[in-house]
Amino acid sequence: MNTISLCAVCSFGLESILKREIIRLGFPVKKVENGKVYYSGDDIHAVALSNLYLRTADRVFLKIGEFDADSFDSLYEGILQIPFEEYVPADGRFDIYKINSVRSKLYSKSDCQAIVKKAVAQRLQKMHRVRLLPETGAAYPIAVHIANDHAEVFLNTSGAGLNRRGYRQAGNEAPLKETLAAAMVLLSNYRAEKTLADVMCGSGTILIEAAMIMKNIAPGIRRNFASEYWSPQYTESYVQCREAAHKAVKEVPLRILGSDIDYFSIKQAKENAHLAGVENDIAFQKLDLKDFSSKKKCGVIISNAPYGMRTGGSQVQTIYENLGRIYRNLNEWSAFILSGYDHFENAFGQKCVKNRKLYNGGIKTYLYSYYPQKENIHGHS
Ligand SMILES: C[S@@+](CC[C@H](N)C(=O)[O-])C[C@H]1O[C@@H](n2cnc3c(N)ncnc32)[C@H](O)[C@@H]1O
Repeated sequence: MNTISLCAVCSFGLESILKREIIRLGFPVKKVENGKVYYSGDDIHAVALSNLYLRTADRVFLKIGEFDADSFDSLYEGILQIPFEEYVPADGRFDIYKINSVRSKLYSKSDCQAIVKKAVAQRLQKMHRVRLLPETGAAYPIAVHIANDHAEVFLNTSGAGLNRRGYRQAGNEAPLKETLAAAMVLLSNYRAEKTLADVMCGSGTILIEAAMIMKNIAPGIRRNFASEYWSPQYTESYVQCREAAHKAVKEVPLRILGSDIDYFSIKQAKENAHLAGVENDIAFQKLDLKDFSSKKKCGVIISNAPYGMRTGGSQVQTIYENLGRIYRNLNEWSAFILSGYDHFENAFGQKCVKNRKLYNGGIKTYLYSYYPQKENIHGHS
């Protein structure tokens, strides 16, 4: 068995949810840092499973070496010792995808990038016994993270960010990242038996992610990953894992409602839901949130409200007042509202039970959580 070391990265604030997802996939977590969860897998299946199934990770990296690096020479020498030829064939593309440096003597990213590229090339030329490296084959994006003069070297197994599930069209003004939308759903404890509503659904991301979670649709089922093309073993592993993922999809009756004041958002949300394979699970309609009501008991509102950064405070103030009002008219519902508006709770008219700091594309926001009065906060994780 060839144990492999992996590191999944995520937005700040999502580490504990990502950790939980990784443990649920059956992989032991080694350490959690800001925006990173380190874990191990038994073999390369762990790479395919992580990319296909992790809903809150941005990318999954395969760790291939580490060493102390406090000078350009030690960086060059350290890279030369890593067996790149075991991963990158003679025609492989080895772009230096990312160099990060914190609290370290080596801080010039462009110099480090040039050194790493040169050292990898030298190693590959020597070990593959070739003079030319055409870089015409599959991509093996290399990332180096230097912290406290210690370098960790990774291959980006995902390629493009895992938020790119393949169902979203361009166009919506402020779409929520799919990974953050999935995290909101996971944090809400929403279950298929409950009614779920997003009363400002925009392009529908939260509801689409919720339906995919309930139906056990792997978030990566519709896309490809860089590591898929690394070797016949990787390709085969993805074929097997994807086949299993298709078989694991469940038909579950869902009651999910999406509404928005903007007609074009609703149109786009419907198209996205169709592409994600959940169009029959979500009922969309154009509606001002002030008119939303439901006779159902025990529902959940999960919404990403406008923050008022472009439009100013008075408009969002009214939106939040109306949101608070409709929430208080619902019978035993909970609500999870993501907002970057400083006076959210005042405008909503109620202190939340819990708030959680989350970053939405670099903007500091809070997920304000409200539970029905009868429920006890300790019942929620
Ligand atoms: C931050 S966006 C939501 C983005 C969404 N989560 C997505 O992934 O596309 C806020 C949404 O609130 C909608 N909105 C603003 N005022 C509204 C109102 N009074 N009633 C319903 N929707 C409203 C906007 O049209 C916009 O789509």
